[in-house]
Amino acid sequence: MKQDFLAIPDFTSREIKEVLTIAKVVKHMHRWGDDPKPFAGKHAALMFRKPSLRTRASFETGIRQLGMDTLFLSDKEIGMGKRESVGDVAKVMSRYFDLIVIRTFEHSEIIEFAKYADVPVINALTNLFHPCQIMGDIFTIMEAKDRIDNISVAYLGDGGNNIANSWVNLASRLSLDLRIGTTEDRQPNPEILANANKSGLSKIKITSDPIEAVDNVDVIYTDVWASMGEKEKIAEREEKLKPFQVNNELLSNAKNDAIFMHCLPAERGREVTDEVMDSPHSVVFDQAENRLHIQKAIILQLFGEKF
Ligand code: CP
Ligand code: NVA
Repeated sequence: MKQDFLAIPDFTSREIKEVLTIAKVVKHMHRWGDDPKPFAGKHAALMFRKPSLRTRASFETGIRQLGMDTLFLSDKEIGMGKRESVGDVAKVMSRYFDLIVIRTFEHSEIIEFAKYADVPVINALTNLFHPCQIMGDIFTIMEAKDRIDNISVAYLGDGGNNIANSWVNLASRLSLDLRIGTTEDRQPNPEILANANKSGLSKIKITSDPIEAVDNVDVIYTDVWASMGEKEKIAEREEKLKPFQVNNELLSNAKNDAIFMHCLPAERGREVTDEVMDSPHSVVFDQAENRLHIQKAIILQLFGEKF
């Protein structure tokens, strides 16, 4: 049966660790100019309804490095759910392609698409989740800290977005000390939070005190305060989220060797200052690079490809 990757819990804890190991190997192989190419003759479609730099570029490049061909389709060509039903698009696409990567708005749309598709579907970001980003981020943490268990991560800012929800999801699969510093009205999805707490694997703390969130942490993470599709809310959010800006003063409360992370694109001067983005603590460009390696590993895992 085909396997999809729509959210972090689609992988077991063991599978997540396997993917991290595969990413380490493929990254190493890439450095040596020796990419595994098990997918020659196969074709992948990237269907994106929102803009993208990193996700599109890293998927297209990575998929080709694995020997598979790619076709990019924007919303204009597809009109999913408008020109024809999501299910019909999924059935048609499954006749042409071996893998489908989707970036869209409503998470329910990718779930419906995957239900009708006969081939693996990967979530390249929805309003609810951005699982490939968080897989790349935990890989970056593993490289920087040489471990993943019991890492303390403070996520600051918009606690209700796809990145925050994906961190909470990861806490249901790996042992984390996860703190989310945010306002009352921007909390993670309650159902996702309840599931993560039920797993009993991690400590998850939601606080409105940014200093409490970052106290002695290994990792400080932030994201834009208004995500794609809701940029008109930025003025209202900025007013409330200002205390959660990651600047040198806030960073000084974390461990001396803490790393700063951001999925990018960053709105410099808003959720993070230049001094932090460009400091030696910042691993933001390692995160961007690692999208390439982790997504290749995710694809290899979904196809059960040993190389
Ligand atoms: N981090 C990320 O997903 O970037 P893009 O929106 O540019 O793809
Ligand atoms: N939360 C951001 C992430 C961008 C990679 C957004 O959805 O716009």
